[in-house]
Amino acid sequence: MKFAADVELNTTFCGIEIPNPFLLSSAPPTGTGDMIKEAFKAGWGGAVTKTLAMDKDIGPNVTPRLHSLSFPGKSDEPKKLYGLENIELITDRKLDSWLREIESVVKDYPDRLLIASIMAGGDDMESWQHLAKACEDAGAKMLELNFSCPHGMPEKGMGAAIGQNPGICRKATEWVKSACSIPVIPKMTPNVTDISVPANASIEGGADAISAINTVGAVMGVDLQTLNPFPDVGGYSTPGGYSGPAIKPIGLKAVSSLFNSINVPISGIGGIENWRDAAEYILLGACNVQLCTAVMFQGFGIIDELCDGLTGFMEEHDFGQIDDFIGISARKITDHNRLSRDIKKISSVNRETCVKCDLCYISCRDAGYQAISVGEDRFPVIDREKCTGCSLCAQVCPVWDCVQLVAV
Ligand SMILES: Cc1cc2nc3c(=O)[nH]c(=O)nc-3n(C[C@H](O)[C@H](O)[C@H](O)COP(=O)(O)O)c2cc1C
Repeated sequence: MKFAADVELNTTFCGIEIPNPFLLSSAPPTGTGDMIKEAFKAGWGGAVTKTLAMDKDIGPNVTPRLHSLSFPGKSDEPKKLYGLENIELITDRKLDSWLREIESVVKDYPDRLLIASIMAGGDDMESWQHLAKACEDAGAKMLELNFSCPHGMPEKGMGAAIGQNPGICRKATEWVKSACSIPVIPKMTPNVTDISVPANASIEGGADAISAINTVGAVMGVDLQTLNPFPDVGGYSTPGGYSGPAIKPIGLKAVSSLFNSINVPISGIGGIENWRDAAEYILLGACNVQLCTAVMFQGFGIIDELCDGLTGFMEEHDFGQIDDFIGISARKITDHNRLSRDIKKISSVNRETCVKCDLCYISCRDAGYQAISVGEDRFPVIDREKCTGCSLCAQVCPVWDCVQLVAV
């Protein structure tokens, strides 16, 4: 797919061509073959099916199974999603109907990347291999192994129970690899100390690429009237998986540390809402990106803005193709003790835009270095000797770019 004279959004993943680097992740937007077809019609480069399993391993969902955290909390202003928790299970539809749908999607959209997400138990070689072979036979171009669902499935030795055990990651990947000939991508959980450990074990088992991340373990809060935790399922709840903008920094850390420690392609996931988030994931090491929550809230149509925006970014930086900027910024993530101690910056307040709210003064007084005083005109005044350039004042200032750090 060509969007501008010198920029190509089309790219490859494990040797397979995709028209753009935007994939739908395994989640409600890929809950049926027809939904995936709608997404492809809208322009998505690829999609990972909602996670499939053997019929014996699927079951009914609970109601409700979502709870969101939005800002501002309660006011007259429109709310903006910050994070979403879900306790949804993998697909509740039988394997046979999924296989027919995979076949039909691949037939109608041969130029798109259809990945089947599969899941079985950590000791269930037979199911892993059956699922792998059946999905390959139906036409799936790759397999994503769900080693990462944090709720419902780990209790049965599936999902994150596998992703948290490098030995089982290796074994399950080996089982799948020996049953199929299409590329295999284990999907990692962020709910571990060091994500590169299970990723490397999966690569030892033959993984062709790694997807990261699945949702982050979370309890969303408590209803202060009923005292029931959210999402309230008949008075009870259970820890779930957190997604959306709030988890982007966790996903970026996972992808950059994987980029610096593994040698297979990475599909980046977590909190991607727009082309800027996607560009950051690619700069930190992803070769393509997957989206879920943004699509749940805004629909398949965001693909146009994603493609246009990324094209503009690439033109501006003179990147002709996605490969030109994968991992550029990941190489700039280093050990703390290698960061320069020679750079000295201090705060500077723009009197034109300052709203005299006192927030910088209060935070510097009570959590900083007592380097800000308030003059008679109520403008903050920075003490150049006391300011250590921590940047707390810039973080709390409600006005964009009013407080800047300047070199001394
Ligand atoms: C309601 C819901 C259901 C999900 N179901 C699955 C699933 O079946 N399999 C899977 O691998 N990931 C599943 N995920 C995780 C997403 O694919 C994705 O990894 C995660 O939401 C982070 O991306 P996001 O911040 O763009 O949503 C689900 C996420 C949500 C919100």
